[in-house]
Amino acid sequence: MIHLSTVIMAAGQGTRMKTKKLKVLHSVGGQTLVEHVVSLAQKMKSHQTYLIVPKNHEAFKVVFDQTKNKNNVPKYVVQSEQKGTGHALQCALKAISQTQGNLLVLSGDQPFVSAASLKKLVAIHQKNKAAVTLLTTCMEDPFGLGRIVRDQQGELVRIVEEKDATKDEKALNEINVACYVFDLAFVQNNIGKIKNTNKQKEYYITDLITLALHKGLVVKTYTTQDVYESFGINSQEQLSMANDLFYFRQRQECMTKGVALIGSEIFIDAGVSIARGVRIESPCYIKSGSRIEEDVSIEMGTTIKSSVIRHGAIVKAHSYIDHSDVGPECQVGPFCHLRPQAKLLAKAKVGNFSEVKKSTIGFGSKVNHLSYIGDAHIGSGVNVGAGTITCNYDGFNKFKTILEDHVFVGSDTQFVAPVRVGKGAVVGAGTTVTKNVSKNSLVISRCYQKEIKNWVKNRQKNK
Ligand code: UD1
Ligand code: CA
Repeated sequence: MIHLSTVIMAAGQGTRMKTKKLKVLHSVGGQTLVEHVVSLAQKMKSHQTYLIVPKNHEAFKVVFDQTKNKNNVPKYVVQSEQKGTGHALQCALKAISQTQGNLLVLSGDQPFVSAASLKKLVAIHQKNKAAVTLLTTCMEDPFGLGRIVRDQQGELVRIVEEKDATKDEKALNEINVACYVFDLAFVQNNIGKIKNTNKQKEYYITDLITLALHKGLVVKTYTTQDVYESFGINSQEQLSMANDLFYFRQRQECMTKGVALIGSEIFIDAGVSIARGVRIESPCYIKSGSRIEEDVSIEMGTTIKSSVIRHGAIVKAHSYIDHSDVGPECQVGPFCHLRPQAKLLAKAKVGNFSEVKKSTIGFGSKVNHLSYIGDAHIGSGVNVGAGTITCNYDGFNKFKTILEDHVFVGSDTQFVAPVRVGKGAVVGAGTTVTKNVSKNSLVISRCYQKEIKNWVKNRQKNK
């Protein structure tokens, strides 16, 4: 197998975005532009990925966090001054010790390039022993992009940038997508020869193509029919369009896999898996890191983030589920808030206006109305009455509440943690539980009810 390295150009500030954030760190489908491109390089089984970054590149280290995922961390190459794409590549070469093999060059602002197209590009490159092979596409309005100039035989002549193009060249509609496979030795021997004698006074990577042709070397192209692959992001408007396009495609893909989507405001991030038989009502947002298993139903107004919803569960309208695990055939919502580390075992129910945080709700247990359950372990078959609160925080530390199997909790109860209630115990409504309760007990902390007959009438008489 021929050695493949990848260079991703991502050092541009992206001033047209009008934000402080570097352009390639803006998100499409819940993932930064540069992550999309890095994962593309991984799909290509690139041996090493080099990311060209500007001087101030601390923010990249948060995106590619070595402590979380060793595999997705590219090698950073700093391009201190942005003197053009050719100069960016020149900087990368200084970091590459390899002298033979292929070099794939991608742009960090193009999240829609497909691995399928790149694989074709590499295959054509290798078959023809080319110096360069580049990806092109045809579009109606190519304004701003590099045009592919061909001779009458259809052979590539050069790539010309919008700003340097003649009127006739501007009329061409085949464009340079900006994905290239180079013969590494060719680039190493020729990168120093490109000049910045153009309107932008930049070093263009595309000049390597003219150089190769002048030397009589083989230069090949592959033209993709999917014009969206070339979609690059330079402005907020294009970022918004890219998100629209991304989510549209996610919905299409889901539906082909047997997911029923009711309405169009359904946003499914990159890296989310949704099994067949799932039904989702619009509007809904399913964010990165979530897995929705077979036959789950998700009603409107729900957000699910980094969570697992297991088979047959029902998520009723307007629920917010974050870093949680909803077990098989559970029911949550409407208006339910599952915060990080909420774990619902099979057939559990968490109903309206209930919040659960860092707690386990056991098999078939119910927290149906207006409750706060935090730092608790609730066994199976437990009934938690309306308005139950675990008082888990004393202003300094968090404490645990444990309700063993088959505990019955009456309404309007507080558990002042740390506290444990034994198996099968009953907690009377309105109780403030401050001490452990043994199994099968009744615990009640209400004051006795007092009734004064005719009190109202007597008061009136006395006035
Ligand atoms: C480039 C191509 C153009 C192509 C278009 C497709 C050149 C000269 N032109 O133009 O033919 O049609 O992409 O979108 O290459 N970058 C650096 N360092 C620099 C300059 C740029 O890392 O000094 C990075 C940017 O962050 C960006 C990528 O390279 O991710 C492309 O640069 P950009 O300025 O957007 O090039 P285009 O003008 O779009
Ligand atoms: Ca661009």
